[in-house]
Amino acid sequence: QTERTLAMIKPDAYKNMGKIVDAICQSGFLISKLRVAKLSKEEAEAFYSVHRGKPFYDRLTDFMSSGRICAMELVAPGAIRKWRELLGPTDSNQARAEAPGSIRAQFGTDKTYNACHGSDAPDTAAEECAFFFGSGRYPGKCDVA
Ligand code: CMP
Repeated sequence: QTERTLAMIKPDAYKNMGKIVDAICQSGFLISKLRVAKLSKEEAEAFYSVHRGKPFYDRLTDFMSSGRICAMELVAPGAIRKWRELLGPTDSNQARAEAPGSIRAQFGTDKTYNACHGSDAPDTAAEECAFFFGSGRYPGKCDVA
């Protein structure tokens, strides 16, 4: 079943964008949309609003607004799960132990600085694709410069 998901290269891995895009293409995804942006703190808080109140929320949103990111809509059969498998576990240290070839193992550092994001379910994938690519619901400019 063809599916779409939102992939995001985080500020810590932006410099490795070429290698990550290559891995995505080699894995059989279609990159149907792509944009580079720089999130404000407010935009990062909106994107991660589901985590509001968690102990790592402020650190996460500081990090996510600290530099450029690359948002992509990926299309493939079972894209949501397939992208999360390529990512590996959330914690890059765990990823290095359990999935050494994964993107988070190769390009991330720890639980917060973990290189890339992937949507976790069809409803969040639709919301997150709309955040970056939708009309009307897009909360800010996410200026690149
Ligand atoms: P991501 O897949 O983007 O989804 C939520 C993000 O919150 C996650 O990757 C991490 O960057 C961060 N995160 C999740 N759990 C923790 C945690 N326990 N401590 C710090 N950061 C976390």
